[in-house]
Amino acid sequence: MCGIIAYAGPKPAAPILVSGLRTLEYRGYDSAGIGVQNGSGVITVTRALGVDQLADAVAAQDINGESAPNVGIAHTRWATHGGVTIPNAHPHTSADGRVAVVHNGIVENYMELRTELVDSGVEFTSETDSEVIAHLVSRCVEAGETLATAVRCAARRLHGASSFVATFADQPGVIVGVRLGNAGGIVVGIGDGFHLLASDVLAILPHTDRVVYLRSGEVASIEPSRVEFTDLLGEPLDRPVFKTGRSFEAAAKGEHPHFMAKEIAEQSETVSSAMRRRVDFESGTIDLPEIPYTDDEIRSIDRVIVSGMGTSLHSCMYGAQMIEALTGIPAQAENASELRYRNTALNERTLVISVTQSGETADTLAAMELASAAGSKQLVLVEAEGTQATLVADGTLYLGAGQEIGVASTKTMMCSLVVLYQLAVYLGTRRDRLAAQRASDLVSDLSRLPGLIAEMIEDGGRCEKLAKEKLVDKRHLLYLGRGALHPMAMEGALKMKELAYLHAEGYPAGEMKHGPIALISEEMPTVALAPQGALYDKMVGNIHEVKARGGEVIALATRGDEIMPGLADEVLWLPVASQWIVPMLTLVPMQQLAYHTSVALGLDPDKPRNLAKSVTVE
Ligand code: G6P
Repeated sequence: MCGIIAYAGPKPAAPILVSGLRTLEYRGYDSAGIGVQNGSGVITVTRALGVDQLADAVAAQDINGESAPNVGIAHTRWATHGGVTIPNAHPHTSADGRVAVVHNGIVENYMELRTELVDSGVEFTSETDSEVIAHLVSRCVEAGETLATAVRCAARRLHGASSFVATFADQPGVIVGVRLGNAGGIVVGIGDGFHLLASDVLAILPHTDRVVYLRSGEVASIEPSRVEFTDLLGEPLDRPVFKTGRSFEAAAKGEHPHFMAKEIAEQSETVSSAMRRRVDFESGTIDLPEIPYTDDEIRSIDRVIVSGMGTSLHSCMYGAQMIEALTGIPAQAENASELRYRNTALNERTLVISVTQSGETADTLAAMELASAAGSKQLVLVEAEGTQATLVADGTLYLGAGQEIGVASTKTMMCSLVVLYQLAVYLGTRRDRLAAQRASDLVSDLSRLPGLIAEMIEDGGRCEKLAKEKLVDKRHLLYLGRGALHPMAMEGALKMKELAYLHAEGYPAGEMKHGPIALISEEMPTVALAPQGALYDKMVGNIHEVKARGGEVIALATRGDEIMPGLADEVLWLPVASQWIVPMLTLVPMQQLAYHTSVALGLDPDKPRNLAKSVTVE
């Protein structure tokens, strides 16, 4: 959450910073701000309630950062402490305006620090925790310290996970950034005659592909032609420069009205990327060279925990079911924010698999650290290259989904399911639990997935009609599924909450009678995931129970099902597919239902209120 970008170099800083903020907006879009050195002895700060408004304000004031060299810092905010107001937008400055700071994370001891600063005469102008950092840095520079020393000194006073970047008018050309714990990363971009700092490499890629990822407790001081790394005590660090394999691709919606529509439509191609170089369709085998364990190590695993948050947690629930079914190892999915705080009996025979498209979700990282401390084996499924999660895990399985701009995950979730599928087959095979023929059948089922998803996407018109005619005036929805369809029901409900702000509940269908049934009425339609399979008859029973109470049912059923059209009010058809493939297919119409309901309500599905794509605070 919160996006930071800073630039020191020969070009006017403001346009570079504003365009960097557009790339980082997915991290939070409550407000935005920029602070540039103009050689006037203060930092010129402009703040607005959004990047577009900021861009207009910067253009109107002709702010370029035209001192020599050009230096500026910028921020897009996801509010934690203090409302969404201009005074709470970053950068925050010292009282004399000579120090400016942008911050991501939470200063857990900010009340104590604020009281100390107020007692010494400091007047606060915002309600944020972040403002204390500007005053702490200012106090140190007033005492004659350099900016780098002052930043280290302030950083040592902060509790909790934070990343912040500061600039100081009396030291033209210098910007200092620090990372404390896992509050979103800081990447240093190394250019010829310029340097950048940013929360995400994506904001750096238009300028350079040479980067250094800061680790916790590291400080980077940049100038146009100089970069220096130290620890929090000022000890110099030698940090190798890494050439990222990623290249800049300007995010474009193409013919689609929203990024989310584009990302839903792309899923048939992205699942192919998630299989590339891993699945051999001819031999019917899966190889995951990213997994560093020997056969003996894999056989020694006696428990699997699949951990994540939000949509990724729903992938984890699917993954745990499939891994247990194919490997025989007890496997459970767990919400990382719970896993990190309970006394989990993890040990070296436990395999912890984390799923995090961003690679920087604070709770998921904390759970991973716990697993490391316990000596557990650790794998991570990630989209974003080089992020903290990849540094902690023994092996990283990249999703290959490509950049996802829509805040609500669609294609990254689909790819994580595909990778978990491959992982389950791979582990089952390496443990000799899965016969070659069965593994080959599973690979063959997987090979049909891109075509089946393409078919589902083509059928999307029906979802649009349903959204407009049936869902747009509803306030409540129930989603039911069994087995591996239960996490998909939860995901369908989550998408509806996130995008259309409707109250939606995802339940295991068997639990319906234990409470949710009390809510059933014509006001609350039920989306029933009822494809053919072992639990089909049970779902039919549930649908009867909903209908008997006057509830409307939208069923997802397998093409050719003759019972469902006479039973449900509406049927969305699924192609015939195998047990572990069908859950992935159900995602497509549920994504489309949520998307079209959001659009029909006049909302912006790409930027739902209050959400951020990367949740770097707990
Ligand atoms: C946020 C996003 C979700 C995402 C979740 C976990 O809530 O809005 O789309 O599923 O974080 O993110 P991760 O990056 O760990 O997958």
